[in-house]
This record gives sequence, structure tokens and C-alpha cells, in this order.
Amino acid sequence: MTHCYISAVATATAHANIALVKYWGKSQVALNIPAAGSLSLTLEALSTRTQVSLQDGAEDQLYLDGAPAEGRALARVSAFMDLIRDRVGSTARVRVDSSNNFPTAAGLASSASAFAALARAGSAAFGLELSPRELSILARRGSGSAARSVFGGFVRMQAGQAADGSEAFARPLSELDLELHAVIAVAAAGPKKVGSTDGMEHTRQTSPYHAAWLQQVESDLEATEAALKEKDFDRLAELVEGSCLAMHADAMAARPGILYFQAPTLAAIERVRALRAAGTEVFFTVDAGPHLVAFTPPAQRAAVAAALSDCPGVAEVITSAPGAGAALESTG
Ligand code: PMV
Repeated sequence: MTHCYISAVATATAHANIALVKYWGKSQVALNIPAAGSLSLTLEALSTRTQVSLQDGAEDQLYLDGAPAEGRALARVSAFMDLIRDRVGSTARVRVDSSNNFPTAAGLASSASAFAALARAGSAAFGLELSPRELSILARRGSGSAARSVFGGFVRMQAGQAADGSEAFARPLSELDLELHAVIAVAAAGPKKVGSTDGMEHTRQTSPYHAAWLQQVESDLEATEAALKEKDFDRLAELVEGSCLAMHADAMAARPGILYFQAPTLAAIERVRALRAAGTEVFFTVDAGPHLVAFTPPAQRAAVAAALSDCPGVAEVITSAPGAGAALESTG
């Protein structure tokens, strides 16, 4: 007779984040250490809820939005859970149930919320108590941007110097009182073709612009944090769009070049710049996919959303206030 008992279960929620100063390039793939820092805003509207249950089966199980998942997704989750099991000296298998409140297939930033929620719920299920910094370092092993989703609001990630990754963690910029909302223009396209890890590595190995890109990041980080403090919108627009376009220029210059922009991305960029020229406080960024994210003060969010939903090729517009950090909902 087989027994299947659950000895511990924990549930956590985390939100996705979008970088204003981009992360593109690793100094170490095995430990997932970024080559430079980054700066992001956590978004309330995009969230992942994850439950981790210890069980006595021989294999880990993963359910994404209720459907069993295997292959690469399961292997990535299993390898991540090994990090927690190794620390507590356990060999217990887990069942992970994870669901997003946004369409994963659209290629929105799901790994950030997914691994921040998994780090929070997974560590709690195994009784592993971690400080926020340790949690950020753990989440980073799943995905670089997940280290930022451990915290809410504006968040700054540092790469540090340590070869073991112990200095590569995020911290909240809680002293900032600027409120920016996000308007996401979801392009009518399938999932992204080149994932961030593959895209970054290919860029690092073949792009002649990569060193220049990395050199730019540190000064962009300082300047962006200062512009957020000073609420200098024109400067923010210059810096945030500059970081995004430089990251994409680096990727485009790889051989063969990686092009994440599609026709709707360019139409949305034009629209944001036209709005700004007409006096709206708005600027854009684009991640490793075709969707544009506009940042704007709450009072102008409805106008920006209306303008972007009217853009050719934009299938859907999602608006979001700043979100909170990863949080444990329950344990049992
Ligand atoms: O965390 P990853 O491996 O999904 O990389 C994120 C890369 C970008 O989204 C393109 C930029 C960023 O800083 O979030």
C-alpha cells in the first residue's frame, strides 16, 4: 500500500516587476549572477500564487494553472527546490501548484513572480527561515529578475563582486515617494522566441556592443535613482528609454541578431513619444518580448491606456499600480 501524506504546505504570492534600468548579461551562469545591477518597479496587477506541499513520492510534481507540467519547466522547478532541500538536508519531494493571474503564453514577465513566490513558499514549506536579503539571493537562482520581486515598489538590484553570488541581491528603495503606474500594451503575438537566459548568453558571446552596454549600466542606475528622488520626469524618460534601447541595441548587434521588437512595439513607442511631445508625463520600456510597458503618474494612466489600446497590433492593455513584495499567505 502506498502512503501519500503531506507533512507541510505553504502558499505565497508574488508580483512581477518591470525594469527601468535593465539587466542583460550574466557574469556567471551556474549561480545566475548578473554582470551589472538593475532597477525595477514591482507591479500589483501581475501576480503568481504558489503552493508547495511536501509529499513522499519519488518525483517532484508541478501544476501550472491546474495542468500538470513536465520537461523543462519541471526540471527548472526541481533544480530550484534542490537548493532549498540541500540547505535543510531533506530529500522530500514536493508538489508545486502555481497559477498566474495573467496569460503566461503572452510572454509577460512571469519568471520573476514565479520564482519569488516559489522561494517564499518553498523555504517556508521546509521550515527554512531566511532574511529578505537571503530570500532575494535564493530567488535570483531561479531567475535574475525574481530577486527584485521579493520586494515591493521601486527596487534596486546589485551585482556585487563576490564570485559566490552572496553580494548579488536586491533591496527596496522605500524612501522614494514618487508614484508611477504601468500601462502594458500586450502585442498580438505568441510567446517570446528567445528566452532571456539564451538571449543574454548569445549577446555576451557575440555582440560587439556588450562591453559598452555593461559600462553604461552603473551610471544609469545612479542617475535613475537620483531622477526618481527628484521626480525629474524628463530625465527619467531619457534614462529609462535609453536603458531599454541600449539593451535592445546590444541584443540586435549579436550575431545573428536578436530582435524582440515587432510592428506593434514600434507603433506603441511612436504613440508614447507623441503623447509625451503633447505634454503627457509618460515613458516606455520593453523586455525580452514584443510588449511595451509605459510608466505614467496615476492621473494620466487612463489617457495613456486609451491611447495604447488604440494602437495597431495591440491586443490588450493591462494597467497596474505598484505592487507589494513576495508574501506568505499560509502555512500548515
Ligand atoms: O530574470 P530574467 O532571466 O527573466 O531576465 C530579465 C531580463 C529582462 O526582463 C529583459 C530585463 C530585466 O531587467 O528584467
